[in-house]
Amino acid sequence: MSKKVAIMGYGTIGSGVAEVLEKNHEIIARHAGEEIECKYILDIRDFPGDVNESKLVKDVDIIANDPEVSIVVETMGGVEPAYTFVKKMLLAGKSVTTSNKALVAEKGAELIHIAEERELNFQFEASVGGGIPIIRSLNKCLTADVIEEISGILNGTTNYMLTKMRDEKSTYEAVLKEAQSLGYAEKDPTADVEGHDACRKIAILTSLISERQVDFRKIQTEGITTITPADIAYAKKLNRRIKLVASSVRRPDQTFDILVAPFLLAEGNPLYTVDGVFNAVFVHGNMLGDAMFFGSGAGKLPTASAVVADVVDMAKHPHRNIPVHWEEEELSIPDYLEKAYRFYVRTKNKQEEIKSAFGELDFIDPLLEDADGSVFLTKEISGREFEQRAADLQLLQRIRLK
Ligand code: HSE
Repeated sequence: MSKKVAIMGYGTIGSGVAEVLEKNHEIIARHAGEEIECKYILDIRDFPGDVNESKLVKDVDIIANDPEVSIVVETMGGVEPAYTFVKKMLLAGKSVTTSNKALVAEKGAELIHIAEERELNFQFEASVGGGIPIIRSLNKCLTADVIEEISGILNGTTNYMLTKMRDEKSTYEAVLKEAQSLGYAEKDPTADVEGHDACRKIAILTSLISERQVDFRKIQTEGITTITPADIAYAKKLNRRIKLVASSVRRPDQTFDILVAPFLLAEGNPLYTVDGVFNAVFVHGNMLGDAMFFGSGAGKLPTASAVVADVVDMAKHPHRNIPVHWEEEELSIPDYLEKAYRFYVRTKNKQEEIKSAFGELDFIDPLLEDADGSVFLTKEISGREFEQRAADLQLLQRIRLK
């Protein structure tokens, strides 16, 4: 006897799942307590000559109507038709794991609830941080804590790009091309470089620590497209590094300040040394203190490894729901302009104009190309105050310090 699994979506991650199930067959069987076998792969495309060609089906109902399949893997990406298919599988009595952050961010609470009502499971370890086991850690390990902050480098593509810009003094355009040729960027790089990918991931993590649905559309999201070699050079001067950070910090009223944006990180920041395509998640718990999760945050096999770990977990818990606390009630997100930071600013203005707008601040000796303007660091002020004071200045850049 073996447990039969179906994979919906035979792209990079789906084919990785089939590969992991095949290559690590024995250890997976030992951990699951029984053999796990892929019976079907759903995809509208043909894969002539593929090693799994005989398993390919085009009709989702073949999987839904087969009582032998008890676990379904969704690796299609996007909200539809993934949502319709996942719901169909849960309603047909099958547990589901997905790597699809768009689906989890949008429909997480509903799908978790459907699974819970039916003593099934809906798991999504691979949707955040690729192969890093952050979701299971939050759900199963850090359960004695109130998580007060979760901040991470959650996008491998942009972290790779910023690292290359720093180490090789390359331009944004050049490193984007390189990231695309290496296959790091998603089909459309907008999701990575504009921060949308990291935004969905921090929405999921915030839902897990707040137990509420987070509307990712309400999260202030700023990407890396405006970062120039000059910003990288100033960061170096300041002994800091520019990183795209997705951050969620609990307030005393149990709401969360959530922001996705480039930050100038100080040397002592735990995320400062996270370079290249790696991801990292920093967690602060009220009892735990600090913890860091670091590793391969993207890519075929690391992501597939996390998906298959969910399959193993679900195989070990047939007809038993593993609770995930995530209610449909929406979390209210305060206005991001309320939170105070120090800001690094490049402007076309003279120091006198800046002093009259901001008062006391630290100027940085400008690089040659900025000789006509000024570069400075503000005191800690709220985003709203920053906007008011900078309203009449000609800003070239502003990045928060952390
Ligand atoms: N494009 C994503 C990244 C893939 O670069 O991190 C994983 O979600």
